[in-house]
Amino acid sequence: MCGIVGFVGRDHAKEKIIDGLKRLEYRGYDSAGIALPINGKIEIRKHVGEIKNLEKIIGDADYDSSAGIGHTRWATHGVPSDVNAHPHGNSDNTIAIVHNGIIENYQEIKERLVKEYGITFKSDTDSEVIAHLIGVFYKGDLLEAVNKAVAEMRGAYAVGAIAAAEPDKIVAVRKDAPLVAGIGKGCNFIASDIPALLKYVREVYLIENNETVVLTKDDIKIYDEKGNTVKRDVFHVTWDADAAEKEGYEHFMLKEIHEQPKGIYETLTRRINDDGTINLDGISMTKEDIEGFNKIYIVACGTAYHAGLVGKLIIEKMARVPVEVDIASEFRYRDPFVDENTLFIAISQSGETLDTLAALREARKKGARILSVVNVVGSSVARESDDVFYTWAGPEIAVASTKAYTTQLICMYLIGLYMGSTKGTVDKELYTGMLEELKALPDKVERILQNEEDIAALAKQYHRREQVFFIGRGLDSGVSYEGSLKLKEISYINSFAIAAGELKHGTIALMEEETLVFALATQDFLYEKMVSNVEEIKARGARIVAVAKEGRTEIEKVADQVIYIPDCADEVAPVLAVVPLQIFAYYVARYRGCNIDKPKNLAKSVTVE
Ligand code: AGP
Repeated sequence: MCGIVGFVGRDHAKEKIIDGLKRLEYRGYDSAGIALPINGKIEIRKHVGEIKNLEKIIGDADYDSSAGIGHTRWATHGVPSDVNAHPHGNSDNTIAIVHNGIIENYQEIKERLVKEYGITFKSDTDSEVIAHLIGVFYKGDLLEAVNKAVAEMRGAYAVGAIAAAEPDKIVAVRKDAPLVAGIGKGCNFIASDIPALLKYVREVYLIENNETVVLTKDDIKIYDEKGNTVKRDVFHVTWDADAAEKEGYEHFMLKEIHEQPKGIYETLTRRINDDGTINLDGISMTKEDIEGFNKIYIVACGTAYHAGLVGKLIIEKMARVPVEVDIASEFRYRDPFVDENTLFIAISQSGETLDTLAALREARKKGARILSVVNVVGSSVARESDDVFYTWAGPEIAVASTKAYTTQLICMYLIGLYMGSTKGTVDKELYTGMLEELKALPDKVERILQNEEDIAALAKQYHRREQVFFIGRGLDSGVSYEGSLKLKEISYINSFAIAAGELKHGTIALMEEETLVFALATQDFLYEKMVSNVEEIKARGARIVAVAKEGRTEIEKVADQVIYIPDCADEVAPVLAVVPLQIFAYYVARYRGCNIDKPKNLAKSVTVE
């Protein structure tokens, strides 16, 4: 998610915009910039890296004005660089824009602008097309030009625009990306998030979808998509800056758990064409490449590794190629069997995990083709891969990974379906059925989130436990490992995951009166086996919390409590089953008074061995 700040007032736009951008730094970004209308032109300053790099190039020169727009970029299209940073200008910088979101049809717009107007693009971004579109439509009325430009665009966007010929005006518009207008005294603001404005205003207008807002220093006008003026109530911000950064959530982790429906939607939907085929932009593997792979490795660490455990079963089922999942720190030292017929899939939220990067380099040395599933555009893992598959989860701030995990799973399904449909190892019925199941996931995750209170109550009941087990079979086994890690890393409880069928080979010796066990039983074809496993440990006095699909009530006879997830195909159940475990871990840690977003001894990205 990018950060947007705009200001119109009497003076010192630069100071207020830079200050607002700094309040958005918590969200993660890779570059920053500012655009100010000065002496009939728009002066754009932008730089890759931190805002302090931008401040250095601005310096104390008399680079200032009474209006302007600023931006912190979280790259989606185009690696982090000075030229890809926002704001973007049209050809003669008489228009400048900042953008948060993704313009899905930017390629066709770009081709038309080049062909019909001879425009030369400076950046690799989708956003730059907006500046040129407004530029070609601009005849002296910025609002009119913005409306015409927006009519050409498809996708998600919050856009702020300024024109050199109207230096004391900002026009902003939003569709599926946040935007607020701040009401000042003799000045007004726009921002992607309330925290950017809290130093200056406490009263805002929350701009709604498909609305446009026109700002001058004394007035804010809001229009609906038909051009009618909208009367909007003022929203009084009572949050402090810290709460505002989490948009009212107690912790980033809880905010990010709740962002999963959007992350799943963003990661999935933009890759499914209208005709149902999958477009893996950024993937250059050919049909021959895919048919040539006789082995696939999925290599990662921690939560990303757990996504690989699910990915293995999914990709093997669909692409009919042996898939081996390995922990990166093990893979790199065991001289693995890798050659030019190997596909090496690295999964990494940060794209900077040294063990994963080192394993990737080992595989490349041995001739493998490298595909990475990464959340940070332009990160080291991404840069060293032949193909990159981005999880569009947005910045993940909490150390405990949640939305990155579920979007990594989505990438596993899409890779399996893409390879399977390319090789003909997935029949039409399975392919179509899977796509329908995947598209239904955002709403089903939302339904589980509505059950948060019940899961929180369960967490309160068990938060004093010092040992918890997670068991499952098949896909549920991989999810058990993730559920156990979530609990372990933020509540410091000694939690332990094991394949349910393995219990009788030793671990069941630990089962005694009141031992707490989470039993995942979402796989229909393994359900009866799981019920028997639960009976076995129940007979030894354990306390069982089961996770099952709605309607599978048999397990209620043996489990003490059951968390139901919406019905779904076995294959996609991991995306749903993990959510109650995330919520449970979060509330246990909260009741235990732990530092949830920054657990002890942990870092968000482990860039050391
Ligand atoms: C996940 O909750 C943990 N914070 C940790 O295991 C993490 O998944 C692991 O360090 C890998 O990080 P990456 O995805 O950025 O490579």
